[in-house]
Parts: sequence; C-alpha cells; structure tokens
Amino acid sequence: MALLPILEYPSPRLRIRAQPVAEVTAAVRRLIDDMFETMYAAPGIGLSASQVDVHRRIIVVDVSPEHDAPHAFVNPEIEVLGGVQEREEGCLSVPGFQETVRRAERIRVTALGRDGEPFTLEAEGLLSVCIQHECDHLEGKLFVDYLSSLKRGRIRKKLAKQRREEAASA
Ligand code: NI
Repeated sequence: MALLPILEYPSPRLRIRAQPVAEVTAAVRRLIDDMFETMYAAPGIGLSASQVDVHRRIIVVDVSPEHDAPHAFVNPEIEVLGGVQEREEGCLSVPGFQETVRRAERIRVTALGRDGEPFTLEAEGLLSVCIQHECDHLEGKLFVDYLSSLKRGRIRKKLAKQRREEAASA
C-alpha cells in the first residue's frame, strides 16, 4: 500500500467532476486500499479519489474511533430521506479549518463495494454528513462552498500564508 499526496484548496484540480467507474478492477481495489491508508494516516474520517487527483467516483469513509468500520463506495448515489443537521466539518484538503455546515440528516446510499457488488446503506448523524461531504468532492464541491465568500476568502488567505511560511522554513 502507499500514502497518496492530497490536493489542497484552492487547487483547481479539486474542481474536476469525477467520472463513473466502469468496473471494479484490481487497480480500483488497490486505489481504495491506498485511499484508506492515506485517510487513516492523515488522520481523517473520509477521503474522495478527487482529493488524491484521481477523478473517478470513489470514496472511503470510517467514522469509528477504533478505525474498524471502513466503508468504500464506488459510483455512490445519494437519496435524501429527510431531516436537517448542522455539524462542524473539516477537510483534509482544507487543513486546519472547521466550520459548521447544514446538511440532510438521513440518507440512503447505493453504490458498488470494494468487491464490485452493489449494496445500499442508510445513514444518519456523522456517517451521513461524511458521506455527503465526500460525494460533494466527486462533483468538484468543497465544504467551504457552503460558507460566505468572506469566510472562504479568509480561509484561502490563511492557507496561502501557511504555505509561504512552510516554504520559507523548508
Ligand atoms: Ni473533504
């Protein structure tokens, strides 16, 4: 397995819309395994292929504290079942920032698993938020898009400053 580099906001590559996966091949399974390893190492609770610059419809999620509830979704489709929730979200592509986002509470996801078999999962709470957040990535959408342009601008400036400081101290 391998750790994959994660694209950071405001990379234009994060805005590319991901294409469907035609077949869950060995290469797709390897990518899923690398995405899990990258997500756990970060550490994070979700990661989309878009964030590792592979523009295919694949996400991985594990919101359990023990890292023992991994879910891989290939070609995920979300159906909103109802309710509203507001939670603080972060993103491995927007490191160091957390903001409250309003999303659906209950969803049903249909996807192919790592084994290529179709499955359906109903989710609520944090798992639901995480799946919605990662599926947004596949559309080229980031959680900062839900914030005001003022807030988004501040985040962009702070990230640029952090990067300049890192470059200066390297
Ligand atoms: Ni994210």
